[in-house]
Parts: sequence; structure tokens; C-alpha cells
Amino acid sequence: MSEPTGAQDRAQGTTTCPAGGSRIDDRTRELVRQLTGGDDRLTFPLARSVPFDPPPEYGRLRSLCPVAPARLHGHDAWLIAKYDDVREALINPDLSADITRPDYPLSPAGKANAAMAGSGLPSFLRMDPPVHDELRRLVTRDFMVKRVEAMRPRIQKLVDDLIDEMLAGPKPVDFLEVLASPMPNTVICWLLGVPQSDHDFFQDRTQYLFKRGVPDDVRFEKLSGLNDYIYGLVDSKKADPDLDPGADIVSRLVVEQLRTGKMDRRGVQGMAFLMLVAGHETTGNMAALGTLALLRNREQFEALGKDPSLARGAVEELLRYLTILNEANWRVAARDTLIAGHHIKEGEAVIPLTLSANRDDGHYENPDILDIQRGARDHLAFGFGIHQCLGQPLARVELQVFYETVARRIPTLDLAVPVEEVPFKTDVDIYGVHAMPVTW
Ligand code: HEM
Repeated sequence: MSEPTGAQDRAQGTTTCPAGGSRIDDRTRELVRQLTGGDDRLTFPLARSVPFDPPPEYGRLRSLCPVAPARLHGHDAWLIAKYDDVREALINPDLSADITRPDYPLSPAGKANAAMAGSGLPSFLRMDPPVHDELRRLVTRDFMVKRVEAMRPRIQKLVDDLIDEMLAGPKPVDFLEVLASPMPNTVICWLLGVPQSDHDFFQDRTQYLFKRGVPDDVRFEKLSGLNDYIYGLVDSKKADPDLDPGADIVSRLVVEQLRTGKMDRRGVQGMAFLMLVAGHETTGNMAALGTLALLRNREQFEALGKDPSLARGAVEELLRYLTILNEANWRVAARDTLIAGHHIKEGEAVIPLTLSANRDDGHYENPDILDIQRGARDHLAFGFGIHQCLGQPLARVELQVFYETVARRIPTLDLAVPVEEVPFKTDVDIYGVHAMPVTW
């Protein structure tokens, strides 16, 4: 039997998980066998409970074995289930986020997406310091709260216009297609300086980043087209003698980085692609799924429609409750390290379960209940530490405007099908809906 661990101490004797090293000791093995029905390691990812709940195993992990051995696409991994431990892992400098490491536990779908979507373009997503920090600094100012708040009236007008269009058309409609997805698409087009006439092309192509059931060759063709488009966008800005560096991110990078030789065209292209990949699907899914969660808690939807001051709290609570990106922050130990008192060996993967952390009843009271007045701003839905979401101020403003305006302007909004018929995204890394038929 190994020595008691920090995890055990912190849990004040409530846990019976004594894993004292990356070797799996007998009691941990027994607990994991109970959870898995006989296997020594949990196989990750675990399926969510549709529509809004985490995999049921998460609660049992938190109470029985908060640092648990798992298997992830053939890699040995550790699942971290409790709020405090997840934060500790996300700021541990011994853990690498570098996706190019051979031991990085990327899913086959993730590998295919990285190869196809990013086309090997450089970016600071899933990269380690110091290069990560240098590249991130180049775009930090574009997402500062003041800068993003200045966009609020424009975002409000955009959402109002989209709603006008929806209300003027036939019903039922797919809420994702007509409202939730076009909003972030348009905002990203503004950020990148994509001309209005190309917004529809952009919307069509970005869908293929994460679309279900698309043959690989079709996805490749659509995303190559998007890549070519961004290539052309950078080129045309480079050739523009009157380019205003204050107009958008790409223009600024062209003036400050490309023309001065500090960055090559692939670098600028990679930054543009990163904004697209990181900011489109996430915000669109949050907008749709969050609205659905509000509709399923009708009194909170109605309260928000009557009192716009609830919007900020509603966004934080929906981010916490839904944690749509549970699989974004996988790490790998670059050297032997300790997490929650457990020895993790170099090369082992570490999976901080932010969805589990955000439902930890050691941190939140009644975490499985949606309560838009909870005040949950310390949630981990945007990650934590040096990789935490760069676009979070923008996502917050977009979602505040979105939920508040939908609840105020379409108080009769409802699903047009039973919730059991809504196609939830249990098959892709970012949780949400593939479609959301609504009426009003
Ligand atoms: C509700 C919407 C969003 C959610 C839930 C979300 C979530 C996340 C999470 C969890 C991470 C951390 C990944 C990690 O730890 O490795 C992340 C990183 C990132 N996000 Fe977001 N995000 C959202 C919207 C956006 C938007 C609108 C943008 C920009 C247009 C954006 C840009 C980024 C970037 C650039 C990173 C990489 C940061 C780094 O590694 O330093 N995100 N996001």
C-alpha cells in the first residue's frame, strides 16, 4: 500500500483513493474496476448524458478517485476530476500543451482536423512558452475588454437584424443556422477584415470545420478553399498601399509583422485561421445550446427577457453549466511532476476535466442546477492559466447580447420538436447541437 496522498488529505478523509504514484496501486485499481466494470483504466473520452449533464462517471470519480488512471487513444493518462486539482493542473509548468510532441494524446479526429483545418499553419494554440507567449502577445490587445466593449452596439445591431430576418420568414426554422451560427461568423469576419460580400462564403466553409458525417474528401476540399481564401485575403491586404492597420487584425499583422519581415505570410495566415477555428464553433454552439438550456428552464428565460441586468450572470452560469469544451486542454507531462499529490511520469497524459470541475459540489452548491443568479464567474469553461481563452471578453459580449435579445424579443420561442429529437453533438469535441428546430 502506498502512502496517503495530498488528494486524500484535501478531501478530508472522504475519498478512498490512495493512488500514490503513476504506478496504479491495488486500491485504485479496485476502484477503477468498480467504475469500469472490470478494466484497470477508464477509457476516455466518456460519453456525456444528453442533453446537459456530464458523464455520470465524473461524480463518482470526484468522490472516489479524483486522480484516476485512464487510457486515451492508446496513451496512458490521468483524469483530474476536482475543481481545485483541475486549476492546479492547468497552471503546472511541467505540463506541456504542445500538440507536436509524439506523446501528445491527440484523438484521431483531432489529428485529422489539425492536419486538414490548420494545414500545418503556425499558430500559438497548443504550443508551449516562450513561443506561445510571444505569438499570443501579438493579438492580446484585440481582445481587451475595452476594445471588445466598443463592439457591443455593432453586435447588438447584428443580432437584432438576424432576429428581424428570422421573424419575417416561415417557421419552424433551424435556430443554429439562422441565428446562433451567423452571429460569431459575422463577428469573426469583422475581426479578420473579410469584406461583407464574402461573409456567406465564409459561413458556408466554416461549417465544415466540425460538421458531422462529411466525407473526408469533401471536408478537405471545403477547408482548402477556406485556406486559399485566407491566403488571398492576406495577399490583397499586403498589396494595398492605403491599408489601415487599425481596421482589423489581419491588416494590423500585415502592417506590423509581415511588411517589417517579423512574420512571414504563413504566420499571418495561421493567426487568422486560429481565430476562426477557436472562435466560431465555440460561440455558435454556446449560443444555441445556452438558449436551449434557458428554454428548458423557462422561468429563467422569462426573467432574463424582463431584466437585462441578468445577462452577465446568465452567460457565466451557462458557460459553467454546459462547459462545451471539455476536451480542449489535454496536457502531457514534459517531466516527472506532482498533481494533487500524485506522481505523474514524464510522457503520461493529463486530462483536467473542466466539465467535472464546474460541477464539483465541493466548490458549487447544487452544481447540477442551472441558476443564472448564482454568480459563477470563477468557472473553468474558458480554461485557466497561460492558455486560458484569449477570446473570452468577446465571447462574453456576444453571448450577453445574444441571450438577452432573444429572451426579450422572442418570448414565445420554443423547440419545434421534442427535446429527444434534437441531434446533440455527442460525436465531436465541442458540445452543442447539430440543428435546433424552433418556432415562436
Ligand atoms: C463560448 C465561446 C468560447 C469557449 C467556451 C472557449 C473556450 C476555450 C478554452 C477552454 C480554451 C483553452 C484551451 C486550453 O487550455 O488549451 C480556449 C483557448 C483559446 N480561445 Fe477560446 N473559447 C470561446 C470563444 C473564443 C473566441 C470568440 C475566440 C477568438 C475569436 C477564442 C480564441 C481562443 C484562442 C486564441 C485560444 C488559445 C489560447 C492559448 O492557447 O493561449 N475563443 N478557448
